Order: sequence, then structure tokens, then C-alpha cells
Amino acid sequence: MQEDQDMAECIKKVALLGMGTVGSGVYEILQKQRDHMPDKIGCVLEVAKVLVRNKAKYADRIAPELLTDQWQEVLSDDSIEIVVEVMGGIEPARTYIKEALAKGKHIVTANKDLMATHGHELLEDAKKYGCDLLFEAAVAGGVPIIRPMKQCLLGNDITEVMGIINGTTNFILTKMSEEGMDFDEALKLAQDLGYAEADPTADVEGHDAGRKLAIMASIAFHTPVIFQDVYTEGISKITAKDIRYAHELGYEIKLLGIAKRTTEGIEVRVHPTMIPSDHPLSAIKDSFNAVFLHGDAVDDVMFYGRGAGSLPTGSAVVGDLMDIARNMQYHCTGRIGCSCFQQVPIKQMADTKTSYFIRMKLEDRAGTLAALAGVFGSNNVSISMLVQKAKEDDTAEVVIVTYDVAEKQFMDSMTVISTMSMVKKVSSIIRVYHKEV
Ligand SMILES: NC(=O)c1ccc[n+]([C@@H]2O[C@H](COP(=O)([O-])OP(=O)(O)OC[C@H]3O[C@@H](n4cnc5c(N)ncnc54)[C@H](OP(=O)(O)O)[C@@H]3O)[C@@H](O)[C@H]2O)c1
Repeated sequence: MQEDQDMAECIKKVALLGMGTVGSGVYEILQKQRDHMPDKIGCVLEVAKVLVRNKAKYADRIAPELLTDQWQEVLSDDSIEIVVEVMGGIEPARTYIKEALAKGKHIVTANKDLMATHGHELLEDAKKYGCDLLFEAAVAGGVPIIRPMKQCLLGNDITEVMGIINGTTNFILTKMSEEGMDFDEALKLAQDLGYAEADPTADVEGHDAGRKLAIMASIAFHTPVIFQDVYTEGISKITAKDIRYAHELGYEIKLLGIAKRTTEGIEVRVHPTMIPSDHPLSAIKDSFNAVFLHGDAVDDVMFYGRGAGSLPTGSAVVGDLMDIARNMQYHCTGRIGCSCFQQVPIKQMADTKTSYFIRMKLEDRAGTLAALAGVFGSNNVSISMLVQKAKEDDTAEVVIVTYDVAEKQFMDSMTVISTMSMVKKVSSIIRVYHKEV
């Protein structure tokens, strides 16, 4: 009886910084889960303040006593024990989180921009003040990947993490692949359906995926990796023809984030990639996300689901909140902090190794292929396949696939090749993924 009463009285007060797409999903889930919380986590999480810039915008949905546009009101309220940062951007989010941690408040954030650049600093602060700082929603939205890597897979040496971690670009590439759309048409459709922003640069150029990859690589390899360490290349140059040729060769083209542990260091890169059609990632369609990783003990594992959206992202945020509420009751907050206990060097893109697909137009005359082979050979680039495609007058389109080679050697050969008189046009260069055996 007394126990029931104690449980009913256990309320953990939460402030939401932001009530946009993610904030409103978090708010809705917390309301829906309220009655189950005492059984699930032994207390109730209650929203005590909602910080926004423009209170009037939210007056129809949020009780006036909860709404504030003053950060100090949240910070100085000692009854608020957990702060959920779902505003986005670097500042003032970084400052607010630092100030909240210094006051002993626990943090949940969905902010990949912030965690990919200042995550290590903020996790150090959390450790200093014995607080939890959880950020499951910052990578792949509703798909659990951070907690699995930090906890369930801790008994592994992870050698590779790669994923489709941007729903907008996956939607565009799916439309190009399945409906033969060209890039501009598919982008316009993504914008009309609300999958792409009016300014799609961060998604289309791979920056959003690069931020998520930096966070995943840090956790997977226990080494600080920031967004600036990640090579990024977007999908805007991919054409419907590249996708058609990829299909003919047994590949799909996906924007992959690839983080690899090699003997010389860590590779972190985001770029369009030709991936074999029988690889599980090639089957990920539309705006879905998936992360595929390899651990020495577990072998291959894949996580799949919705990488964005109000309720899917809210699901990850609320999971973190409930975890913190449980930790608070067992007096074990700050249990799982920064996991970067080593400094593995990060490789330059020029030193990474992969295979390449090249599509180019060549003068159709004797000696052209021999000249190309000569340039490739002198840069240690070996050709695994060469196919002649369309022929028009005295020009032939050829597709070449190389064996694995260092990026620098490949690019050096292409610099020479692109200036050769018999080369009319280098139309595409796309990296090709194949599993190492
Ligand atoms: N959207 C997704 O599906 C998704 C998925 C994963 C992660 N995330 C991350 O989640 C975060 C939030 O994204 P979102 O899509 O929910 O953003 P959003 O829809 O633009 O909402 C942002 C909210 O934060 C408030 N806000 C922004 N700056 C503020 C400031 N300086 N002071 C007070 N309030 C401020 C805004 O209030 P006003 O309206 O008054 O300006 C608004 O309520 C971002 O870090 C994003 O990267 C989003």
C-alpha cells in the first residue's frame, strides 16, 4: 500500500526545449504512455515547461503555464530534473545543455549537428556533473543504434558500420531506380511530399549523413570522430543512366555512410555507392533508414526503420527519457558516458581503398583502350571489367569497373585520362562496395 503510494507520488519533471516536429512527437508519446509509466519505469514523466521562441504559435496546443520563451525560467526551476533539447542548431543549444548539466539536470537530445561537432565536450561535462546525456534520436531517428552499440554489442570489436542514414536521399534514389526519374524530378517529388527541405543541400550533399556517421564511428571505434573528419559527396550528379547501368551489372546505387576500421586507421566517408543487389542494404527503399554493422563476435547485424518523423524520432527520445528516469531511481545516472577511450588515426580520403565504376565517352578508334590501360597500369589501377555500351558515330560509351585501389592512385590516373584527346567525356565516377573476404 505504502509502496503504491510512493510510486504514485514519483513524478520526474521534464522541460522540452522546442515543440516542432520532434518536440510534438515527444509530447504526444509522453501523454499516451502516462498511465503505463508507473509500471514501466516506476514513475511518471511530466512536462513542466516548454521553451519556444514564439509562444503565440503554440497557444492552441500547449497550456499557457507550460509555455515560456525564457531559458532562465527552465534553468532556474530546480524541480525540473531532465531537459530534452529538440530545438536543433549549435547555439544556443550547446550553451543551454552545458548550463543545464552544470545544474545537475540530465539531458536528452536529438541534435546530430551538435553531437557530431561538440558531443565529446558535452559528454565530458555530463561525466563531470554525474549526469546522463543520451542522444539515441540523433542517428537514424527511431532506429535504435547508439544504445545497441554502447551496450548490447560491447563484447565485440566492431570493424565496419555502414548505413543508409538519410531518408531524403534514399527516397530520391528509390524513385530514380524504380521509376526511372532523373534527379531533379525525384527531388521535386521529395519536396512536394515534405521529405526534402526547400534548401535540400544538407541532405543531398551528404552533410546530414556525415554528421550521423561521425557519431556512429566515434562509438563503434571508441575514438573521437567529428563531422569535419568525414569525407562527404552527394547524389546530385547521379543520373538515371548510371542507375540503369548499375542494375545491368547487378548493383543498386545508394548514398552510404561507411565507417571502417583498417590496420592503418579509420575510414569515414559518405558518398553514392554501387552496392550488390543481394546486399541487405540494397533492399532499403523510400525514406527508410538502415544500419549494417560487423562485429568480430556477432558477425553481421542490421537495424532498420524510420529515420525521421515526429513519432518515430519521439520514440527514441522517450526511450532515452525513460532510461534516465530509471537510472535516477536507482541512483546510477552517468553510468554510460563517452566511450572514446582511444585515439585511432583517421585516414585521409586519398589513402582509402575501394573499387570504382567509370562511365565515359571515348573516340572509337584503334589504340584508345590500350592508351587507357597504359595510364591505369602505370598508377597500379587494375581493371576488373570493361563493357562497351552505346556507339554513336565515332564515339563509344564504355563502362569500366576497377579492382580495389587507393583513391589517390585512381584519381591520379583519372586526372591524366580526362585530358587525353581520345576521351570525349568522363560522365560518372561511382565507388563500388563489395564485402571483403
Ligand atoms: N525532424 C525529424 O524527423 C528529426 C529526426 C531526427 C533528429 N532531428 C533533430 O531534432 C531537432 C529538432 O528538429 P525538428 O525537426 O523538430 O525542428 P523544428 O520542427 O524546426 O522545431 C524546432 C523547435 O525548436 C524551437 N526553437 C528553435 N530555436 C529555438 C531557440 N533558440 N529558443 C527556443 N526555442 C527554439 C522552435 O520554436 P519556434 O517555432 O517558436 O521558433 C520549434 O518549436 C534537430 O536537432 C534535428 O536535427 C529531427
